[in-house]
Amino acid sequence: MAVLRKSSYPFCSFLFLLGLFLLFTGEMPVTMAKVHSHDFLVQATPVNRLCKTRSTITVNGMYPGPTLEVNNGDTLEVKVTNKARYNVTIHWHGVRQIRTGWADGPEFVTQCPIRPGGSYTYRFTIQGQEGTLWWHAHSSWLRATVYGALIIRPKEGNSYPFAKPTRETPLLLGEWWNANPINVVRQAQRTGGAPNISDAYTINGQPGDLYNCSSKDTTIVPINTGETNLLRVINAALNQELFFQVANHKLTVVGADASYVKPFTTSVLMLGPGQTCDVLITADQPPVKYYMAARAYVSAQGAPFDNTTTTAILEYKSAACSAKCISVKPVMPNLPAFNDTATVTAFTTSFRSRGKVFVPNKIDHNLFFTVGLGLNNCPPGASNSSCQGPNGTRFTASMNNHSFVLPSNFSLLQAHQQGIPGVFTTDFPANPPVQFDYTGNVSRSLWQPVSGTRLYRLKYGETVQIVLQGTSIFTAENHPIHLHGYDFFIIAEGFGNFNPRRDTSKFNLVDPPLRNTAPVPVGGWAVIRFVADNPGVWLMHCHLDVHITWGLAMAFLVENGVGELQSIEHPPEDLPVC
Ligand code: C2O
Repeated sequence: MAVLRKSSYPFCSFLFLLGLFLLFTGEMPVTMAKVHSHDFLVQATPVNRLCKTRSTITVNGMYPGPTLEVNNGDTLEVKVTNKARYNVTIHWHGVRQIRTGWADGPEFVTQCPIRPGGSYTYRFTIQGQEGTLWWHAHSSWLRATVYGALIIRPKEGNSYPFAKPTRETPLLLGEWWNANPINVVRQAQRTGGAPNISDAYTINGQPGDLYNCSSKDTTIVPINTGETNLLRVINAALNQELFFQVANHKLTVVGADASYVKPFTTSVLMLGPGQTCDVLITADQPPVKYYMAARAYVSAQGAPFDNTTTTAILEYKSAACSAKCISVKPVMPNLPAFNDTATVTAFTTSFRSRGKVFVPNKIDHNLFFTVGLGLNNCPPGASNSSCQGPNGTRFTASMNNHSFVLPSNFSLLQAHQQGIPGVFTTDFPANPPVQFDYTGNVSRSLWQPVSGTRLYRLKYGETVQIVLQGTSIFTAENHPIHLHGYDFFIIAEGFGNFNPRRDTSKFNLVDPPLRNTAPVPVGGWAVIRFVADNPGVWLMHCHLDVHITWGLAMAFLVENGVGELQSIEHPPEDLPVC
């Protein structure tokens, strides 16, 4: 009796306080969502990799930058102060930013850049997303080193839809240049040629044992025999799709792009830049060390690429090193061939949403966008040195034959809100201006896109289907297409030209995966659907930064709906202007 009284006493006072709370607010209490405040200092920091030290743009002196950990429903408030000599913005890749487009981050799209010396506070709430996302700079090529993980756990008191892992480890796959990446892209823009390839891939910023001067800092991922752990794999590389594999261990995929998927087992992942994958790994092998390795998936023929391999070490605790095991080499996985598209297809077609999803089936906008490269003829009067693309051309890229150009005086969102004319037009075409055999032998007359800042207008709540059709202009390639402000369903993918009569029957309208980045198969197509329920201006682009540099992008303008809850919030006071 006494025991009961004692333990019920705090409960009674809790009820009393709850009563007071209800009395004063007149509302039911909800589980308290937290506000997480962070300071991001963007600054030049000396970073030593591959036997060299170079000044590197980082956040808070860290490469990769800080990992943010929140629960679904929480609010983030990140004050970014720019102490670097470049303009910067931060994008919260995959965060829906419902009504908070001002916090999305792509420069000249939703904000003007934060100038050197300036600052801006990004405020937004995570709504209904769980799993792994990430953040990265969205200005020139700064994201080569300015990026970090954003981990979203279930709401307080809720659990994962799988057994709680013992440990969780974010694994950020990246790409390192010995040169300053900003100089690499500037040189490419000057010459019109392809930018220099990277010098290393990295896992959590470390190239690993297979590179010079790197093995002492190789990322170690500890595991204990019998444990099941969660790996949050993020492809943060600038220009390269990557295979990822752990020697002798199967991976069970449970989530992607902060949505849960029906679990499936695979030995290899392929992630395009922008994509994330949550996988479970069970320590069911002899207790030694195993390499986790990533290297390129190269779908374009004949293009030079960084063919190196980055590694981290999965280390069984009982194999943790005292001096005597240092000489034992970790087991190396057998990675797929660089051009193993069959493995990629088997992987990307394995994804299914977990739980009930509502795929829009009445479509208001049936769009068909070609995505691919192009070559511009050398402009009259230009010197040879500025036309170093194939056969004296300049590289370009486009969607529906339009090569996207960012404005420089206003952000698109600001221009839209304030009705500033002359910044953009809303005539982005719903279909390719010319129909052709997209994946066949394309006539040279179709290789030169037009440039412009064209948006496609959507009303609040309209439903959209887009066929993303790869082209073989110059060369066919897998393009990871990313849409800001939305998750979309990938309802089908295939090779060759999309054929509505044949391919509509392949649509999965029952349990397609919900993603923010779709890898469009090399010489093929993917079909996505979403509901335009988030007002604002939303960039859609290839997440290979070299392609966005060349114009492989467009943007949607989604109008406000009726009333406050269907309208974008007011711009924050400290929003940078141009
Ligand atoms: Cu991950 Cu436009 O971005």
